[in-house]
Amino acid sequence: MKTYDIAVLKGDGIGPEIIDAALRVLAAVEKRSGQFHLNFQFHEAGASYYRRTGTNLSQETFAACQQADAIFKGPMGLPEVRNPDGTEAGILGGVLRKGLDLYANIRPIRLFPEVNSALAGKRAGDIDYVIVRENTEGAYFSRGQGEVTPEGVRDIISITRAGTERIVRYAFELARKHSGAPQDQVKRVTCIDKSNVLRGFVLFRQIFLEIGEQYPDIEKDCLYADAAAQALVLWPERFTAIVCENFLGDIFSDLGAATAGGLGFCGAANIGDAHAMFETTHGSAPTLAGKNKANPLSAILAAAMMLEHLGETAAKERIVEAVETVCSEKKVWIDSNGCPVEGTSAVAEAVCNAIEEA
Ligand code: IPM
Ligand code: MN
Repeated sequence: MKTYDIAVLKGDGIGPEIIDAALRVLAAVEKRSGQFHLNFQFHEAGASYYRRTGTNLSQETFAACQQADAIFKGPMGLPEVRNPDGTEAGILGGVLRKGLDLYANIRPIRLFPEVNSALAGKRAGDIDYVIVRENTEGAYFSRGQGEVTPEGVRDIISITRAGTERIVRYAFELARKHSGAPQDQVKRVTCIDKSNVLRGFVLFRQIFLEIGEQYPDIEKDCLYADAAAQALVLWPERFTAIVCENFLGDIFSDLGAATAGGLGFCGAANIGDAHAMFETTHGSAPTLAGKNKANPLSAILAAAMMLEHLGETAAKERIVEAVETVCSEKKVWIDSNGCPVEGTSAVAEAVCNAIEEA
């Protein structure tokens, strides 16, 4: 039996309850499959940990994350826990994404059956694309390094050839595995940038077109970011994979989530050549914490992505199919705040039951 070591960081706010929900689902799928074992090691990190210790991630935990086969992480950060420079102290983007060189942030945007989209008339099958967000440079390269003068602050957007080549390639490879855009079943990669204004984005688009030549089977498409914001709302069915710089990917993944039932349906994978981390796309929502209100499907879908990365594709499919089942049977009903009416634990239980009964 294959055993995988998973470093679990439950995080802040709603983190612990949605991660616990996902761990229940992982236990159910492990039992159902009988082919593998997940060995969890729990570590504290994030804003509350920073408040207590003055660091958001200890060196031991970082080393444990390096050793693990995968990292499973809840949302981190609390609005009142700040670094001396005013930025949030709890978030681990700099330490884990950059520290482990997890350069590809993969964010599927998919409307599940019977889930209400913010867009009128959209149904399951109409929205099914993946955002491939560059995760180590772009505007967030300046994290902690902005040049502060009495007049203001200068943050730099850094776009490198090597950084762009690897993310663009990742997007083309991923598009090959996708079933194609809902509109026409065409496998296409859309490059979203602002190359009409900034030089870094000129390079980004140029590299996209260069690498794209090596993928004659994939359609190439380019949009300026402002036009893309409109297109993602008006014509989401034309997208298969989107590749973009870090900051743009951050924004478009929330926009896309809004069209697919909200951030509670969006898991994310952060992948590098040596390490991988799985988390939700949303934050720690401290006002919902401890109330059994948060939608755990983002964490459950992130867990499914982790199984796929570990090579347990059948187990991943079991989870995704169970989520489809509970959604189509309306066992998950989302209120106007994005919360499941029956509560966090009831959603986890419904997914576990669907896995056991499948
Ligand atoms: C995300 C989050 C993070 C980001 C925050 C918490 C730093 O919004 O994963 O999208 O900006 O990348
Ligand atoms: Mn974000």
